[in-house]
Amino acid sequence: MDKICSEFRPESKRPQPVIGHVLIEALPYIRKFEGKTFVIKYGGAAMKDEVLKNIFAENVTLLRKVGIKVVIVHGGGDAITKTSARLGLETTFVHGKRVTDKETIDVIQMTLAGKVNQDIVQLINEDGGNAVGISGLDADMIRAVPAPNAETLGLVGQVAEINTRYIDLICDAGLIPVIAPIGYDMESNVYNINADDAAAAIAVALKAEKLIYISDVEGVRVGNRILKTICKADAAEFIERGIITGGMIPKVVSAYQTLDGGVGKVHLVDGQITHALLLEVFTNEGVGTQFIIENEPTAEGAAS
Ligand SMILES: Nc1ncnc2c1ncn2[C@@H]1O[C@H](COP(=O)(O)OP(=O)(O)OP(=O)(O)O)[C@@H](O)[C@H]1O
Ligand SMILES: [Mg+2]
Repeated sequence: MDKICSEFRPESKRPQPVIGHVLIEALPYIRKFEGKTFVIKYGGAAMKDEVLKNIFAENVTLLRKVGIKVVIVHGGGDAITKTSARLGLETTFVHGKRVTDKETIDVIQMTLAGKVNQDIVQLINEDGGNAVGISGLDADMIRAVPAPNAETLGLVGQVAEINTRYIDLICDAGLIPVIAPIGYDMESNVYNINADDAAAAIAVALKAEKLIYISDVEGVRVGNRILKTICKADAAEFIERGIITGGMIPKVVSAYQTLDGGVGKVHLVDGQITHALLLEVFTNEGVGTQFIIENEPTAEGAAS
């Protein structure tokens, strides 16, 4: 035989059973979560870095393809500040929180529900995930009322009611809803709603299996250590003592509202870790911090 069209397996490339082990470790989780709903709050560095954005899109597509109903609620504070600057509008913060006047809410609506939302949708669809971009205004989804700090912060709302009809419809069609967290009332006001709070309220309304916050921190930090679990009483104390501050406060508060509302598990994962979402959902170890009501002895390896 002078020439063959078949191909020899390279000696150095033996089949790797370890990859098979990793994949099979996911099987019990795939079986457990098939048909269940995961609400994912997408924020932090994973929303800004090009590589991490693509990995996020692949991860949610995979979750959807194994039969998990994925619902994404996104942030976008940085994009709002940048658009405001391009329009020559000054952004005012009081204690680190954005003041939202009528002009600012227009910018928020157009930036969040327009650009930020559609960029996420496009990335997921490039991976075949079939995402649909919507905002809290679609199909009467998020009714809002002024938040307690609205006197200082303006058109900042809190969720009054979630209507899940449209989300259910999208999920039942095998698509991924990507939700911009704005709401409205019957007096023609549109409100900016903290994305953590909106995700929590949506998770409760959908009776989700899990709420997952994707952020740019390894987890909840106390001193120089990261907590694997955080219980409700400790969380309150850490806020009181100034150990949990800033953007972590709405996350922690809404995590416990979600658990009190009947959602099974709430996780905070680091969007800077490659495939953090898949590691959290499909492996025994998990990553980041899990929120729990109280500290009971748990079986080792029951992270997901
Ligand atoms: N104890 C703590 N552990 C971890 N992070 C903390 C703690 N206290 C305060 N933080 C801050 O909380 C921030 C996370 O909240 P932040 O609102 O900035 O992110 P995000 O919600 O993921 O993004 P976005 O609001 O843009 O959607 C961290 O970057 C960190 O600076
Ligand atoms: Mg935040």
